[in-house]
Amino acid sequence: MATRIMSLSSIACLLLVGALLQVVSAVDYDVGGNFGWNLPPNSTFFTDWTRNKTFFVGDKLVFRSKAAETHDVGEPERQVDFDGCVNPGIVLSTSAVLSITLDSPRRRYFICTVNNGSHCNAGMKFSIDVFLNPASLPPPPPPSSASSFRFDAFLAAAQFLLTIV
Ligand SMILES: *[C@@H]1O[C@H](CO)[C@@H](O)[C@H](O)[C@H]1NC(C)=O
Ligand SMILES: *[C@@H]1O[C@H](CO)[C@@H](O)[C@H](O)[C@H]1NC(C)=O
Ligand SMILES: *[C@@H]1O[C@H](CO)[C@@H](O)[C@H](O)[C@H]1NC(C)=O
Repeated sequence: MATRIMSLSSIACLLLVGALLQVVSAVDYDVGGNFGWNLPPNSTFFTDWTRNKTFFVGDKLVFRSKAAETHDVGEPERQVDFDGCVNPGIVLSTSAVLSITLDSPRRRYFICTVNNGSHCNAGMKFSIDVFLNPASLPPPPPPSSASSFRFDAFLAAAQFLLTIV
C-alpha cells in the first residue's frame, strides 16, 4: 500500500514538474523578429525566420504590423492552398497585434490575405510544425483514461504535499 502511494506521488510530482516546466519554458515569438509581420525585403524572409526554431505546444506567435501597413493573418489548412496563396476565407485578425497560442501538435500555415494574395506572394507566409514539449510528456498512461488519471494524480500530489508539509 505504502509503495503504491509513494509511486503515485512520484508520478504526480513528475506531472506537476512537467506542467511547471511547460509554463516556465513557453516562448512568445515575435513573428519576423524586430521586423515584424510586414512586407518583407524578399520572399524567403519569414521562412528564414522559422529556421532553427522548434515550436512547442504552449508557445505563442505574436504578429505585429506597422501602423502604416495593412495586414492580416489567415490560416490555410492545406499545403496546396498555402503554396498557391489561396485566401482561406477565415482571417484570424486584422488588428495590428495578434497573438496566437499554439494549442496542439500539428503543422500550421500562416499567410497575409491582403490584396488577393499579393502580400502572400511577396513572402508574407510561413509554415511551422508544432511539437509536444518532451519535458511536459506524462509517463506512459495506465489503462484508465488519461484525464481521470491526471485528476487522480493531482489529488495524490496534493495529498502528498499535505503529508510532507
Ligand atoms: C532576405 O532579407 C533578409 C533581411 O534583409 C536577409 O538577411 C536575407 O539574406 C535575404 N534573403 C535573400 C535570399 O536575399
Ligand atoms: C541553423 O543552425 C545551423 C547549425 O547550427 C547553422 O549552420 C545555420 O546557420 C543556422 N541557420 C540559421 C538561419 O540560423
Ligand atoms: C484574385 O486572384 C486570383 C488568382 O490569381 C484571380 O483568379 C482572381 O481574379 C483575383 N480576384 C480579384 C478580385 O482580383
